[in-house]
Amino acid sequence: MAEEKAKLVHTFGALAELGQEISNKQNFQETVRTSLHLLLGSLAIMRGGVARFSRYSHELNLVAARGLGDEFPFSLSLCYEDERQFLSCGMYPIENSQAKVLPFFQIYDNSFEQAKIELVVPLVVRDELLGAVFLGEKASGERYSSYDRDIICAMSRHIGVAIAQRNMMAELERRAEENRKLYENLRMTYTDTVKAFAAAIDRKDKYTEGHSVRVGKYTEYIAEELGWSEDEVEGAAVAGYLHDVGKITVERKIINAPYRINAKESIELNKHPGVGYEILKPIHHPYADVPLAAKYHHERLDGRGYPDGLYDREIPFIAKIVNLADSFDAMTTDRPYKRRRPAADVFEDLQRNAGKQFAPEIVNALFRSLLKELQGESKEKRFRKLLGREYMEAEGLASTLRTALNGTSPTSPLTFVAFD
Ligand SMILES: [Fe+2]
Ligand SMILES: [Fe+2]
Repeated sequence: MAEEKAKLVHTFGALAELGQEISNKQNFQETVRTSLHLLLGSLAIMRGGVARFSRYSHELNLVAARGLGDEFPFSLSLCYEDERQFLSCGMYPIENSQAKVLPFFQIYDNSFEQAKIELVVPLVVRDELLGAVFLGEKASGERYSSYDRDIICAMSRHIGVAIAQRNMMAELERRAEENRKLYENLRMTYTDTVKAFAAAIDRKDKYTEGHSVRVGKYTEYIAEELGWSEDEVEGAAVAGYLHDVGKITVERKIINAPYRINAKESIELNKHPGVGYEILKPIHHPYADVPLAAKYHHERLDGRGYPDGLYDREIPFIAKIVNLADSFDAMTTDRPYKRRRPAADVFEDLQRNAGKQFAPEIVNALFRSLLKELQGESKEKRFRKLLGREYMEAEGLASTLRTALNGTSPTSPLTFVAFD
């Protein structure tokens, strides 16, 4: 009786340890290995192994083993009949010698003989086969008692739960990865569509070919220089690409007029920010301010812009960046009635209008980005690609920018205004 009591205490101790080991779940392989050792140790079993079931390959793959020998197969296949039988046994040990009718025990008969496997315990949790425990002979040489089998059953359940947890984690990781890829694909589709759309807008305007694409890029460079996050920079680029989308409803002859358009035509053209907003508003953008950038990219800090004549703080920050990128492109490209202006002239104009039309910190960010490229601090020659080598290599540009940067306040009283 005393011996039975000691055994019981010992078993409970082992079970408690096993529970703790499993809830620790730092390293799955380590957890299973320790659990196996606890199981073998608590009943003085000579050898054993734990295998995890793969429902994709219908195999039991060894996760931990002790004393099974090198010949013991690492993977053991299960056929439908075996799986059915294993499931119906639940956690209860199957005696090797009694199970010869099953294909599994016939195929691996030699291996089981060699490793002296006496019991195979299917690990079944919530009606799902998760693995199996293989157990060799007891050190005492005695047969397994029903008491032993109950203990094996209880301890195997812990191991089954550990495998179930691991499977769940693996499934979660797989789904997270799948979602990440899906999201990445969607994002790429979105940006590709935006770029295709920008190219389509630009095709309508034969004199300013590539305008939307360039404004998208300038907006991106400025946002980057302002220290925005990767997502925010991408959103800024999209806002730039789509800022003139409203022009698709403006008559081609007005857009392509080889002269300064008259007042009536101007009214027509000036509707494009509002139209752009209406087009972009119903679309679900991953970035919030895209429609607002279209709506307000012709507003000015001094309230003399359109369509609403907003003042400084009322203008969304992204619209201010697009506004500068838009003007910068207009000044640095040839128009039907006007040739582009020399870079130094453009910089001087932007500086003069900082605080009137443009936000000073945005002008500064553009200047800093340009200067970095001129000083060879940036890897790519991004501005040179858009403006041409000759244009960017004009005499004294870097010093003009340096002087401009020293002359303007690096900070501005302007603040980010959130619009709904
Ligand atoms: Fe515009
Ligand atoms: Fe534009």
